[in-house]
Order: sequence, then structure tokens, then C-alpha cells
Amino acid sequence: MNAQAATLTSGTLTLFSQGASSIARHTDALFGAMLLLCSAMALLIAGLIIGFCVRYRRGNATDRSNPPSNARALEIAWVVLPVLIFVGVFAWTTRDYLLLRAAPGDALPVHVVGKQWMWKLQHANGRREINTLHVPLNQPVELIMASQDVIHSFFIPAFRLKQDLVPGRTTRLWFTATQLGEFRLFCAEYCGSEHAGMVGSVTVMTPADYARWLQAGPAEPGLVQQGFALFRSAGCSGCHTAASTVHAPLLQGLAGRMVHLQDGRTVLADDNYLRDAILQPHKDVAAGFAPVMPSYAGQLDESQLQMLLAWLRAGAPADAATSAETPR
Ligand code: CUA
Repeated sequence: MNAQAATLTSGTLTLFSQGASSIARHTDALFGAMLLLCSAMALLIAGLIIGFCVRYRRGNATDRSNPPSNARALEIAWVVLPVLIFVGVFAWTTRDYLLLRAAPGDALPVHVVGKQWMWKLQHANGRREINTLHVPLNQPVELIMASQDVIHSFFIPAFRLKQDLVPGRTTRLWFTATQLGEFRLFCAEYCGSEHAGMVGSVTVMTPADYARWLQAGPAEPGLVQQGFALFRSAGCSGCHTAASTVHAPLLQGLAGRMVHLQDGRTVLADDNYLRDAILQPHKDVAAGFAPVMPSYAGQLDESQLQMLLAWLRAGAPADAATSAETPR
């Protein structure tokens, strides 16, 4: 049992937990550097204050004649040095932030819905879980997250990761777990009376164990297939198929493409464009089409939206029986 798992089961908290994801060492290095920098500055300033207080205290026979009227070199130093340090820290954090934003193309998608007060998760093959997340070791995993009600925040301290789930948006978070074991999962945004109970665990397994675990659940269609089934059962297919008499955009290959809009703008059909197109269809009407689509707001819950979005991201295959979700 590793240190993290011991922490989890014994219930004690340690000051420095060991990082268990690929991003953790970057975050820890940055945190350590900032701690050193701030400590050094605080010590320097406190030392100067105490030193001057002692040296120039009343009654002390220090030479006070001829005080310097300017100290150009010192002034330049205290402007230039902090600027260089701040720009350096900015560049460092920007690099880490970009690393955190760009999921590798082969990341395993896991869909997360936050709601008062639980985490609902679903893997690409359809296997669901609540308040637990099982992931393979040393493989990138991308969480595709949405909230059913208010803002929640998905927080895995051992992975040094936290991401808000914002109602009406899809947010993403990726990581590569680098240590086997079980790690705590928290909601880190106050979301109502049972916020403190919105906790769970992340279990990191060997790839073979994970594959076995994935197959062990009740046989369910994958998310893309569920999305396709919903596309038909919710009535979308009445308009969005070539055979339809209604003039509506075809959805095949739409995700990830640039879309020309009625008002002359061109936008990328990303997660949030597709979500809005379903819930607020009159917001960004595609060029050449009439704004006749009814809104599905209130008719589809977040889990259903995730199914539809997964199917759209997979290219909206008309025969979804064998399709898997392709990374973005
Ligand atoms: Cu969900 Cu706090």
C-alpha cells in the first residue's frame, strides 16, 4: 500500500502528500519555488526592518550626517529585478497551464456530471459509477464534465488538479495517473447544504485490471450508441436526416468544423457550440437555415446531453453500433 492509500484509509491528513499524476511534479515545483521566493523576500524585508530599527534607534550614536539623496543603482535594481522575476513566473505558469489544457489525442474519455450532491461518471463503453472513478495507470484520461444544477468543482488533491463544472458549459480536465492506489476526490466549490458530503475516490489500477473492471459492469451500450438512440427517440432525427422534408443541417462530421452563421460570423463547432445549438437553437443559426428548431432546454438532462454530444463528437455516425468516441 502506498503513502496515499495509507493516508486515505487511516483518515489522517499529511502536510505534504505525494503527487500521483503527471502534472503533479510541475505543480509541486512551482509551489516550492513560489514558497522559497516569498520566504526569501519576507526574510529580507523583516531582516532590513529589524536591522534599521536597531541601527537607527533613538540614542544610538550612528553617523546620520550626509544621508544619500539618490541611489540610482538601487532604484534600477528594485524595479528591474522584480519585473524579471514576475515575467519569469508568468512564463513558467503559462507553460504549465497550457500543458494542463492540451489533452493528448489518445486520452480515454470519461464523462462526469456533477449534481447536488453526487458525482455521476460514465466511461466510453457505457459503464457507470457514482462517487468513484476507476482509471488505468500511466494512461491519459480526459474528463468531460458538466453540471446538472449549480457550480461544482472536481478536486483530486493527490493529482494536484481542480476544475469547476459550470452549468450550461462543458469543461474538461485531463491527467495521467502515475501511482497505483486510491485517492480522495472532493467537491471544492460550496454547492449547498450537503457540499461537504460530495466526496469520493479515484482508484488507479493497472491497465489489465482496468480493462477487466471495464468489462465487468452490466452490459450497456457505449455512450456514442446511447447518443444515437437518443437522437432518434428525442425526435432530432425527424429533421436532421437527408430523407427529412424539413430543411435542417446534417450533423455528420459537424463537430470540430467551422460553421458559417446567418449573421456572417464563422464559429468552431466545439463542445459549447453544440450544447448551445441544442438548448438555445436560435442563438447561432447556421447560414442558409431558418431558425425553426425548438429548444430542448428542460427536456434533456446533462447525462442525456453528454450522450448526444459524445455521438456528435464521434462524427454523428448514422450507424453507431460499432462507433467509439474519438478524442477531440
Ligand atoms: Cu458540489 Cu460542492
